[in-house]
Amino acid sequence: MGNSISAEGAMDGSQHEPVLLRELLEAAAPREGECWIDGTFGFGGHAVALLDRGARVLAMDRDPEAEKRAALLQDAWGERLSFVQRDFAEMEAAVSGIGWGAVDGVLLDLGISSGQLDDPSRGFSFRWDAPLDMRMDPTGPVTAGDLLQELGEEDLAKLFAVVARPGESRRLARAVVRARGQGRLQTTGDFVTAIGAARPSHRRIHPATRAFLALRMAVNDELGSLERALPASLRLLSSGGRLAVISFHSEEDRRVKHFLREHLLQKPAATSGAEERPQPEEGFVRQARFLPTNEERLRNPRSRSARLRVGWKATRKDL
Ligand SMILES: C[S@@+](CC[C@H](N)C(=O)[O-])C[C@H]1O[C@@H](n2cnc3c(N)ncnc32)[C@H](O)[C@@H]1O
Repeated sequence: MGNSISAEGAMDGSQHEPVLLRELLEAAAPREGECWIDGTFGFGGHAVALLDRGARVLAMDRDPEAEKRAALLQDAWGERLSFVQRDFAEMEAAVSGIGWGAVDGVLLDLGISSGQLDDPSRGFSFRWDAPLDMRMDPTGPVTAGDLLQELGEEDLAKLFAVVARPGESRRLARAVVRARGQGRLQTTGDFVTAIGAARPSHRRIHPATRAFLALRMAVNDELGSLERALPASLRLLSSGGRLAVISFHSEEDRRVKHFLREHLLQKPAATSGAEERPQPEEGFVRQARFLPTNEERLRNPRSRSARLRVGWKATRKDL
């Protein structure tokens, strides 16, 4: 699959530090008075950097814990910071809810925060024996336990296949079906035992990493949210606006890359004759990818698998 993920799906619980921040600020260059959406507020690291540059920020996060952290920043930033607890896929409703029209920038820093990972009660980590929950929004309709109890073997294999090779995903699915048949699948610890990942590994990636990541992505429909958020961002961005997405997993990055490429506008002179096909009215005039420096990788292990993609929006008449 060519996945590159660090322990526990990109998060290692180290001190929170916004990933690829310098690259984001240099490339996407938020400016005074601009309107930005930070769809993944988390600990507010990126949001504060945007605010520092003079932007107004609509912060979103599915997790109510993030709202508490945003409330702590409210005194410092006043009405330049708004928070909406909602899936970033619904950013258009959130934008009109606070009375904005178009925006100048959209930032998505995908995945979960170290705070979520390090809270044993949330069930995101295999480091503790905890309820099989894994919901970013604790009122969400489905827990990890529900999926493990209710999905058939075929669907379980599909769930794991997002991050595992076909043979491995079928083996994981069979192990889940066997364990639940014996009534031994209630906690994260049971899940680790069931998939035979309890043995310590000398490899950099713990054997349970991929299985936990796949389960978390399914519980929160993470790829579905991303697929809905990308076109919503394009619709919301003004001409000259920037879409910036930081991903930690090849399946996410692939979707972002394809979206940017599919919506890349060709300059009129570049299209000619038989190859000419109808061009969309708006899209991206260019796109670029950024990786963490070696220095950031060493300082912040969470950054190791991170990739930032930025697209610059334009309309055809601006070309
Ligand atoms: C990697 S953390 C973001 C860290 C943040 N950029 C910072 O500097 O503190 C990802 C956050 O996005 C949230 N999140 C992930 N997917 C989401 C979605 N579809 N809608 C809203 N929030 C989401 C998670 O709850 C988590 O708090």
